[in-house]
Amino acid sequence: MNGILSGKKILLGITGGIAAYKSILLLRLLVKEGATVQVVITPSAASFVSPLVLATLSKHPVAIEWVKDDAQWANHVMLGRWADIIVVAPTTCNTISKFATGLCDNLLMAVLLSATCPVMIAPAMDEDMWLHAATNRNMATLRSDGHIVLPVAHGELGSGLTGEGRMLEPEIILAHIVQMVSGSKPLVGLSAVVTAGPTHEPIDPVRFIGNHSSGLMGIEIANALQAAGAQTTLVLGPTHLRANSAVNTIMVTTAQQMFDAVANVFPDTQIGVMAAAVADYRPATVADQKIKKQAHELALSLVKNPDILQHCGMNKSTNQLVVGFALETNNEAANAIEKLQRKNADMIVMNSLQDEGATFGSANNKVTIFEPGGLSQSFPLMSKQDLAKEIVSLIAKRIHEKA
Ligand code: C5P
Repeated sequence: MNGILSGKKILLGITGGIAAYKSILLLRLLVKEGATVQVVITPSAASFVSPLVLATLSKHPVAIEWVKDDAQWANHVMLGRWADIIVVAPTTCNTISKFATGLCDNLLMAVLLSATCPVMIAPAMDEDMWLHAATNRNMATLRSDGHIVLPVAHGELGSGLTGEGRMLEPEIILAHIVQMVSGSKPLVGLSAVVTAGPTHEPIDPVRFIGNHSSGLMGIEIANALQAAGAQTTLVLGPTHLRANSAVNTIMVTTAQQMFDAVANVFPDTQIGVMAAAVADYRPATVADQKIKKQAHELALSLVKNPDILQHCGMNKSTNQLVVGFALETNNEAANAIEKLQRKNADMIVMNSLQDEGATFGSANNKVTIFEPGGLSQSFPLMSKQDLAKEIVSLIAKRIHEKA
């Protein structure tokens, strides 16, 4: 079969969670794309999904126990070495914990610990378990061990509650697998413009209104877009950080300069990511000379700056995709969704100042991405570099859907 995964060997691990019913669809998608798939499930997964269905769809016996019916040993080492990639979907809280500590109490764990190929896990659990400090610790361990930990989605959960913890949809997991095994550059032939950093709005020749943005998130996104093959222009406010030299960087100071640079480039691009912390207002007049200390009080009159994201959102054509950011201190999700609509964006990446370890200037970030139609995905705390790759992989998926 000549699918995008033709010739690839994929070992699909399934653990015991409600989301296991979606693994059947994932298996079908993998087979349809031409992959050879072998399935290993944990004993508890058999309560959620039928081994007979998995064996029929994969056209291979499903491995569950160490010893098969005919007293043959299931060779976990060879299974772990056979695959080009191992994907565990869903991965329960229990399996995440065992994998992080190296506990080997079933065949799937033995396969994971014998693996010589990349291992990708798609977590699925209830929100309280997902947010628990122990789970976060375990996932950080898996990431630092070099495994690919996919985010979870926000929505209805097995418990009947609504929140973070849903397994990603099979099509999205498939897109991650394709990107991983093909090492492809999904944005070749496309171009992108990114804004990053703060803006400085002059008050007089020596003073300005500014903010604490370091620009790192937007710079990492520009790097990731360029690495994915897009010809990328970065419009960067005043910061000491710089993008890779392959990115075409235009340095600006004020919001108006940033707006002018973006408005000039945007019509020729397919992707716009507005990650800059643009000053909403600027002084109505800029004093020619340094303002002297005089009266007890000094009032500055401010006027509104143009909204760059809104300009791109309102002027985009059907083949252009526009992404914005939202940094909120309260009512985060509601504000982000409102921003998505008001600025006619295709995605809003929401970060909260309430998240520990994800503040201005930090190397890490924790975000939820909102899209039209009520779609959202929550990511755990991760490096801005890794997060940029996640955002770009979602952009690549959405831009190809538009084409
Ligand atoms: O409205 P608010 O400033 O919260 O929106 C944040 C989003 O809008 C970010 O993506 C930011 O880069 C963008 N923005 C912009 N131009 C402005 C203000 C915000 O592009 N003047």
